[in-house]
Amino acid sequence: MVYLKSPTEIELIRRSGRLASQTLDYAASFLKPGLTTKEVDKRVEEFIRDHKGIPATLGYNGFPASCCVSINEVVVHGIPGRRVIQEGDIVKLDVTTILGGYYGDTARTFLMEPVSPLARHLTETTYLALQMAIKTVRHGSRLGDIGEAIQTCVEKEGFSVVQEFVGHGVGIKFHEDPNVPHFGRAGTGLRLKKGMVFTIEPMINVGDWRVKILPDNWTAVTADGQLSAQFEHTLAVTHNGSEILTLS
Ligand code: MF3
Ligand code: CO
Ligand code: CO
Repeated sequence: MVYLKSPTEIELIRRSGRLASQTLDYAASFLKPGLTTKEVDKRVEEFIRDHKGIPATLGYNGFPASCCVSINEVVVHGIPGRRVIQEGDIVKLDVTTILGGYYGDTARTFLMEPVSPLARHLTETTYLALQMAIKTVRHGSRLGDIGEAIQTCVEKEGFSVVQEFVGHGVGIKFHEDPNVPHFGRAGTGLRLKKGMVFTIEPMINVGDWRVKILPDNWTAVTADGQLSAQFEHTLAVTHNGSEILTLS
């Protein structure tokens, strides 16, 4: 069941989404080689709590940290710990806040310069794919339009779309209906309606799209060990387009 949000609810998700985005801005200001992912997590948690928010990932299905920090071959759900960020790494930081009871979910890939031309191209393509996907969203468009836009943009560059993880409805809960695949065919799938709020969060791999899960039961890595990038926004569907709710 896809729950449609009222303008009042969307305003509350917008506030939470803004905090999540501001948290990523803050992270951008201190993220650098030499930090452990645990140190990043600690500062993210402090920032969220200082702004009256709650980190939604902490304790979510047993996840032990306030954000996901996923480096290089780690696709998503990297658990902050002792891994040290290195020069040349691409670092995905995914922050979900609860503010006033509402969820905002956003992620970015940060480049620990200097990075390889391949890492930069992958990250730029992933960013572009999210923008192309967002452009398809409006009242009356379809989920498959999103998937096709991403797939077209990414496969043209020889990269691949992770299929195992998808975008999701969000707002009242962390993960709501509908599932939002990052692959598919335009003109197919659920028809979008004004008031729907969901994430688009393409995970794009240099090589094979397959992932495997490490024994910690969270960390998803590329099956072939190559790089993966991700960007995520929370969006509200409007009459003639969409509004990004995770802007700072
Ligand atoms: N923020 C992630 C998403 O975009 C979910 C992380 S769940 C966690 O859906 F438990 F791994 F933190
Ligand atoms: Co999400
Ligand atoms: Co997220």
